[in-house]
Amino acid sequence: MNPHPKVEIDRMTYRYWLEREEREFVAFSDVSLDIADGEFVCIVGPSGCGKTTLLNVVAGLLRYNEGSLRVGGVLVNGPGVSRSMVFQHASLLPWRTVAGNVRYGMEMQRRFDRATMDARADQFIKLVGLAGFEQRYPSELSGGMQQRVNLARALATDPEVLLMDEPFAALDAQTREFMQAELLKIWSRAGKTVIFITHQIDEAVYLADRVIVMGTRPGRIKGKFDIPFERPRTLSVKRDPQFLRLTDDIWALIEEEAARINVISQ
Ligand SMILES: Nc1ncnc2c1ncn2[C@@H]1O[C@H](COP(=O)(O)OP(=O)(O)O)[C@@H](O)[C@H]1O
Ligand SMILES: [Mg+2]
Repeated sequence: MNPHPKVEIDRMTYRYWLEREEREFVAFSDVSLDIADGEFVCIVGPSGCGKTTLLNVVAGLLRYNEGSLRVGGVLVNGPGVSRSMVFQHASLLPWRTVAGNVRYGMEMQRRFDRATMDARADQFIKLVGLAGFEQRYPSELSGGMQQRVNLARALATDPEVLLMDEPFAALDAQTREFMQAELLKIWSRAGKTVIFITHQIDEAVYLADRVIVMGTRPGRIKGKFDIPFERPRTLSVKRDPQFLRLTDDIWALIEEEAARINVISQ
């Protein structure tokens, strides 16, 4: 067995280069986080604290300046098949069917032959509950269904780590709750390590094994909360007094951070 955590982020810093101002901007600094194999981690924090940047760095779409990132014990600083991203807006190709879109991620990777891609597309379309919709086009699907296709596409590439950046933010409240419960089912079947970003605290507490709170200026980790609820979880856990206490504690930390920013910007 690999003794390493699935994801090891060690004292990592990322700086954007601001072209017009000819200076660097620290998006986040000194971020350290270990994530176990199969763990579901949610990251929350005020807008602009560097959540998306951190996820993009873990995806390898941006390269970190300092520190290190290991996935499955292997040092990485760039994209690779070990990680797959689900974006906030379903980034589907409008001219491809559901099956064609799910195949697309695998085609880009060139890891599987045709027959395997077809079989995997089938398997993951079923897993996300879209059997029967294989030949539909994205424009013929609801927002929630489009996000399921996005998820199936990411899972079909068989990543070690699934990265999700506010994937349900554009959905209405009801669809969102439904998708949260569905995601937990899919996650328990797929057995993947997940890093999930959201600005909704209750979504984070409902989904996660651990909630990481980020603060800003520069972005960094402010707190880590273990979420004790047993699995499988139903939506009724959201009414548990302990659930409410946890969301309150996390809110308090974020509010403290928001107040600090206001003081700085005045
Ligand atoms: N391409 C970019 N160039 C320069 N600064 C950026 C860029 N993208 C994001 N930022 C800045 O980095 C900080 C973190 O952004 P982001 O990671 O998007 O935060 P979050 O996802 O938590 O809202 C913000 O201050 C933002 O303005
Ligand atoms: Mg963001």
